[in-house]
Amino acid sequence: MENLSPCQPDPAVLSRCLLVTGGAGFIGSNFVHYWCHAHPHDRLVVLDALTYAGNLGNLADLKANPQMRFVQGDICDRALVDALLQQEAISIVVHFAAESHVDRSILSPDAFIRTNVVGTFTLLEAFRQHWEPERLPTQRFLHVSTDEVYGSLGASDPAFTETTAYAPNSPYAASKAGSDHLVRAYHHTYQLPTLVTNCSNNYGPYQFPEKLMPLMCINMLLGKPLPIYGDGQNIRDWLSVEDHCLALDAVLSRGQIGETYNIGGNSEIKNLDLVYLLCDLMEERSAELGIHLPVRPCRSLMTFVPDRPGHDRRYAINATKIKTELGWTPTQTIDQGLRRTVEWYLTHQEWWRSLLSQEYQEYYNKVYALQN
Ligand code: NAD
Ligand code: DAU
Repeated sequence: MENLSPCQPDPAVLSRCLLVTGGAGFIGSNFVHYWCHAHPHDRLVVLDALTYAGNLGNLADLKANPQMRFVQGDICDRALVDALLQQEAISIVVHFAAESHVDRSILSPDAFIRTNVVGTFTLLEAFRQHWEPERLPTQRFLHVSTDEVYGSLGASDPAFTETTAYAPNSPYAASKAGSDHLVRAYHHTYQLPTLVTNCSNNYGPYQFPEKLMPLMCINMLLGKPLPIYGDGQNIRDWLSVEDHCLALDAVLSRGQIGETYNIGGNSEIKNLDLVYLLCDLMEERSAELGIHLPVRPCRSLMTFVPDRPGHDRRYAINATKIKTELGWTPTQTIDQGLRRTVEWYLTHQEWWRSLLSQEYQEYYNKVYALQN
């Protein structure tokens, strides 16, 4: 177990202690940054196994923050989870830890069932034992989930609401659906104070370069092909990770126990159009920053490759509930968000270059072999 910095709560300040699972991954690390800034008196215990997707570098600037403790460990390790909940008097669990990439779930589903289903079950059981409704009425278990549990939409179907029937299509989506059902059951059966969020595609800093947005930015900087799966007409609803963190804060502070909230960006776009936008932005911002691009125009790098098996056609989120009940709406338009994201990958080359390992290259060769 790695312990970067033990918690040192200030006894003079009424603080909460949060257990953030998966806090060294993409959304988790953005959430940790957000929370340290927005709620500086709270303590954060980050539990992360540091799989290929976890990176302590994502939290490097918080290393000296006495309010944050990092623990390297597995959410399936019941003894470890029990010890942390008790020793740290955790009142809020924010559960991000997961295997999160659809392509990997098609190649090797095992880890998805273990972490996403068994790991969530382990956390729920540990929290059930730790929960003290009379003494700690503010305890919460927030389960961060995905819109992929609802399946795929046709071009003119209405967007997913919280009552849309589950129809997961990939092993990843099925494992997340299973974990959502467990959380629901723990509230229904044991009245555990749970909250579930189902969010659309996130983008922003610290996203592992297997996902569309960072992969495209980085490949443009390396002059490598930009792989477009199938016909590129698949639609996703994009949300900046900063807006996701604001939504999670709203759900934690004002959400109704036992409820589910959909979170989305009102920004549906076809993959092909998104990549065109990224190409244009990359050319514009790199020129302004004086950064060399090996191949111009970037669009000449776009390459159609065989489709992802079972590829969902369209996702769209109806976020009316979180807007009307909790007053949350996205603060960034997709144009603003993409511009900031492209700039981040342009100016943080040391971050992503360190991730371009041999293992990562081998994995990509396997993905493309599967699709061919
Ligand atoms: P990510 O893959 O970037 O990070 C996952 C983190 O979990 C990594 O730090 C990894 O080391 C850690 N982890 C994996 N297995 C673990 C285990 N057994 N024990 C402890 N830690 C473990 O994922 P992300 O994109 O940041 O997604 C975070 C959560 O949000 C996931 O639950 C995902 O399903 C959900 N989500 C993601 C998106 C998106 O667009 N990225 C959208 C909606 C919901
Ligand atoms: O909708 C929320 C989900 O969004 C999250 O639950 C997942 O954790 C997250 O990975 C993401 O899933 P997607 O499969 O939508 O994201 P991905 O970035 O892998 O792909 C986005 C779209 O781009 C999808 O239609 C597939 C396509 N794509 C992806 C890659 C990596 C390509 O065309 N080329 C690529 O190289």
